[in-house]
Amino acid sequence: MAEPGRVAFCDFGKREEMTPDQIAEVFDKVARVYDETWKARNYRDHVYVAEGVMDYYSGDRESVRVLDVGAGTGMLAEELWKRGFRLMDGLDPSHGMKVEATKKGVYTNYYTEFMDGKRINGLATDAYDCLVVAAAFNTGFIPCAALPEMARLVKPGGLMCFGIPDSRFTEVKDYVNRLAPLMKMMEEGGVWQLLDSKYCHDFYDNANPGNVFRYVVKASSIDAVKYIDRLRPVD
Ligand SMILES: C[S@@+](CC[C@H](N)C(=O)[O-])C[C@H]1O[C@@H](n2cnc3c(N)ncnc32)[C@H](O)[C@@H]1O
Repeated sequence: MAEPGRVAFCDFGKREEMTPDQIAEVFDKVARVYDETWKARNYRDHVYVAEGVMDYYSGDRESVRVLDVGAGTGMLAEELWKRGFRLMDGLDPSHGMKVEATKKGVYTNYYTEFMDGKRINGLATDAYDCLVVAAAFNTGFIPCAALPEMARLVKPGGLMCFGIPDSRFTEVKDYVNRLAPLMKMMEEGGVWQLLDSKYCHDFYDNANPGNVFRYVVKASSIDAVKYIDRLRPVD
């Protein structure tokens, strides 16, 4: 675990100078030990997101189409599976993480793609009822600019639910003075509406507080450029 690339697995700052491909390679290398590492650190983000989704869908969960972005080894999908969700796709650039996720049999499709702000032509507008993210808003992972594309994939009335530790808003360069304003701008622009944000005091390591955000998507046609152009430059 000590070789340079792998250090970036747990030391988030090390990822600042890495390319997206290098970060995906880090996850390729650690995929087999990913679950045991994070279980040992009392990782909880995925459980909190699953609870937020479960509360929104009180009826027939088997027919709810869910996209798990930054799906990794499928820890979040496992939690959703326990709660009755069956139609889940994963999206993540790491082949190694896909291999581990596939063993669990919780995803119908697993797309080895980056969610990076570019349009993913293979995924149709309004394809999903629900989009979830756990632990994939962090240095070098999903950039702010990807939010409009993620919203495009969810049909109006559908849910977007993601956990974000508070420190990400102040420590991840791409998010500082950008992520929170973008979330607000998308609300003002009629893309989505904040249903609620639930404070959780321990996303991992029995610490690292943050919120699980639940947004209801309102729009089908989303002009991503309009929002990305209004983002402040990264400091
Ligand atoms: C810390 S893991 C979280 C995995 C999973 N969601 C969980 O709860 O265990 C972050 C994942 O995000 C993926 N990732 C990194 N950049 C990404 C991007 N631009 N789009 C989608 N996934 C990305 C990584 O490959 C990795 O599997």
